[in-house]
Amino acid sequence: MIFYFSGTGNTRWAAQKVAEATGDRLLFIPDELKGDCSYSLVPHEAVGFCFPVHGWQPPHIVREFIRRLKLTSSFPLKVHFCYALVTCGDSIGRTMNILSKELATIGLGLNSRFSLIMPESYVCLPFMYTDTPAREREKIEKATADLEQYSELIVKHTRNERHIRRGLTPWTFSHVFGAYFNAKMISDRKFTVDADSCIHCGRCQKSCPVGDVTLVDGLPQWHHDGSCTNCLACYHYCPQHAINYGIITRKRGQYYFGHDEQLKDSNIEN
Ligand SMILES: Cc1cc2nc3c(=O)[nH]c(=O)nc-3n(C[C@H](O)[C@H](O)[C@H](O)COP(=O)(O)O)c2cc1C
Ligand code: SF4
Ligand code: SF4
Repeated sequence: MIFYFSGTGNTRWAAQKVAEATGDRLLFIPDELKGDCSYSLVPHEAVGFCFPVHGWQPPHIVREFIRRLKLTSSFPLKVHFCYALVTCGDSIGRTMNILSKELATIGLGLNSRFSLIMPESYVCLPFMYTDTPAREREKIEKATADLEQYSELIVKHTRNERHIRRGLTPWTFSHVFGAYFNAKMISDRKFTVDADSCIHCGRCQKSCPVGDVTLVDGLPQWHHDGSCTNCLACYHYCPQHAINYGIITRKRGQYYFGHDEQLKDSNIEN
């Protein structure tokens, strides 16, 4: 069983590859949160968590899901192989330590940990940009090779694997910068739409993993109900670059996994 979250498709791609290798069920966390989050595990079934790093921590929606998760098994839960595969633009800080603590509260041990460096999706701070096309290709090539290696370890339920890029001073990044980021900067309040550029295609609404965008008279409106994960899918998938986050993203690039291929519509099917 693989629980995953993804905004711009990097993690969806990775989780789908692992599911192909393992034959495990692939479950999208925002959809699962609409139900009772109860699952029964068959003997020897692995439990995987795949998600992007947000501010050097697991995204809020993943933490909320774990707090609601109810797993049952005829064995103690710790017997089941449990792993996490996270994607990031650069480094994950103490994301795995934070996740491991969350999982311990529901009786799961985090046995193996993997991170993949993927194209950058965060562009809402002065020093944050999408990658150049060359860097994007380089990251995806390396991630493809890493993922093949990780999938083999996951298929064999290999424990105590640590293939993660924590970066410099992980504690400071996760518990100082990341804590501030996740407490104060995850919001849909700064999104705007340029009505003159918008072609009313609805991709922003369709790409939002949590249903936070509705078209009203052909233009997106954000619900301001606390559901936004700041994944930036609505911004990146807009074919007109009509959506902005404050003024900072006006001159920033756009990215989603597969944007340079003929995969555009399949990539926004959550
Ligand atoms: C809100 C937000 C916060 C992010 N924080 C980090 C971070 O702390 N470290 C990092 O290396 N990448 C960070 N990123 C980049 C993403 O983790 C990375 O691009 C990821 O692969 C996107 O996955 P997705 O396409 O499945 O949504 C962040 C992206 C977003 C949207
Ligand atoms: S994706 Fe862009 S062009 Fe399409 S409806 Fe949304 S804002 Fe308008
Ligand atoms: S409103 Fe935009 S940034 Fe917020 S969750 Fe939806 S797609 Fe992601």
